[in-house]
Amino acid sequence: MSAVHATAAPTPDQVVFVVDFGAQYAQLIARRVRELNVYSEIVPHTMTAAEMAARGPAAIILSGGPKSVHVDGAPLLDPAIYDLDIPTLGICYGSQLIAHQLGGRVGRNDQGEYGRTTLTVDVDTPSSLLGPDPEPNQTVWMSHFDAITDVPEGFVACASTPNAAVAVLESDSRRMWGVQYHPEVRHTPDGMSLLGRFLHDLAGCEPTWTMGSIIDHSIEAIRAQVGDGRAICGLSGGVDSAVAAALVHAAIGHRLTCVYVDTGLMRKGESEQVVETFQRHQGIELIHVRAGDRFLERLAGVSEPEAKRKTIGEVFIRVFEEASGGITDADFLVQGTLYPDVIESGTAQAAKIKSHHNVGGLPEDLDFELVEPLRNLFKDEVRQVGTKLGLPDEIVWRQPFPGPGLAVRIIGDITAEKVSILQEADAIVREEIAEAGLQREIWQAFAVLADIKTVGVMGDERTYAHPVIIRAVTSDDAMTADWARLPYDLLERMSNRIINEVDGINRVAYDITSKPPGTIEWE
Ligand code: XMP
Repeated sequence: MSAVHATAAPTPDQVVFVVDFGAQYAQLIARRVRELNVYSEIVPHTMTAAEMAARGPAAIILSGGPKSVHVDGAPLLDPAIYDLDIPTLGICYGSQLIAHQLGGRVGRNDQGEYGRTTLTVDVDTPSSLLGPDPEPNQTVWMSHFDAITDVPEGFVACASTPNAAVAVLESDSRRMWGVQYHPEVRHTPDGMSLLGRFLHDLAGCEPTWTMGSIIDHSIEAIRAQVGDGRAICGLSGGVDSAVAAALVHAAIGHRLTCVYVDTGLMRKGESEQVVETFQRHQGIELIHVRAGDRFLERLAGVSEPEAKRKTIGEVFIRVFEEASGGITDADFLVQGTLYPDVIESGTAQAAKIKSHHNVGGLPEDLDFELVEPLRNLFKDEVRQVGTKLGLPDEIVWRQPFPGPGLAVRIIGDITAEKVSILQEADAIVREEIAEAGLQREIWQAFAVLADIKTVGVMGDERTYAHPVIIRAVTSDDAMTADWARLPYDLLERMSNRIINEVDGINRVAYDITSKPPGTIEWE
């Protein structure tokens, strides 16, 4: 039997639905709603009125989308949803949809409106959405081509921009509001207060989604799922599995056992930190499997990147099975799946560039029921929960680290000596980034060990040793990335320290490739 999917994710009684019309904005809107302490979920635009009514959301937000309401196949809302008397806010495409489906008109503009623009409030038309005393001219952020030209019956237009005669429309009696601009982006300074007015004042949502309530709900849900059973959790050293474990521990205490497979390919000091945090600090039962030699043995002579990943994946699963096999009475396996993974699973896969392997990844034929306490949480919420549960910043704010570890940062074959050289060089890069206060600004910063040797001179001696490449990138989601414009003096400090402090390195280079065309990792 393969693992059963279940959820121990917190789901409070009150929910706001963000209806996804296919742009990148739905996730951002859902996060903003939660920042306003209201729980939100993203739902597909194909949801029917009956399905919607069955869940009874406290409010609905219709997201933006890339289509025009006039094209064939434009995503529409089930029109019966408009009759459910649920407070509704349309944003961008969502506002055009309200106009289009309720008898107004959306025109095709000659010109779109993208970026910052000025919203002019019609001071003679009071607006519950804009509030009692709105600034007459507000900066807002736009991204649209079509524009509403006529509002439906019973609606009023309350504000305009140079290319949108109806930038705000509303009907208090129907409890529907719409904005052509994007209140969810930071470039719209009044955006959060507008969303807050909609949620708290107009829709009457209670601001109850707080860190305390997330933790309480999670603990309750985990207890309900696990009962008096036992669970195991594979720790990777990363924030997701760490927070999932800490939450499950808070719920079921010693009936959780964590397994940390130490591949020997972690960064300097990382394994010690995981063990220290979980065993000593959190008092969590932890099996620390020191499997470095086994991984190195199997990796001997393997230099092709995909072969490395495959080898590491296989060894990892075997080691994990051996360790967890000793806990024969465990029925549950804890996973740190996040809400964005849940939203995105099932979407078409892009071409395979690398077969990502997640340490802590699930062998397919394990006979466990999954416990996924982070399934409804965004990364920023997971970090806050981790901090609240007392996890150290080094784990809560850890930069992404590939499952195969340093193996994909050592070009060519892997030896214990190379791992040790890279650990030292990498530690210097990270220390200097932290010292410069750039830790949270830089998506990832690390060192790569090249499979070549170059000539240098140190003192009067000729040297012939490996170069290290520093890679530092900025990114929002790792799908695209830009090389970080690190200050020269910072790069100089890193270079001097690496060459002076790490034996076996005589040259340092900086990688100035963005993604695409490069990938973040070198293998
Ligand atoms: P690339 O190199 O594809 O990396 O631009 C994108 C992001 O994914 C991380 N990465 C991995 N993560 N297992 C993982 O769990 C892997 O095999 C793996 N390979 C790359 C990488 O660090 C970056 O954040």
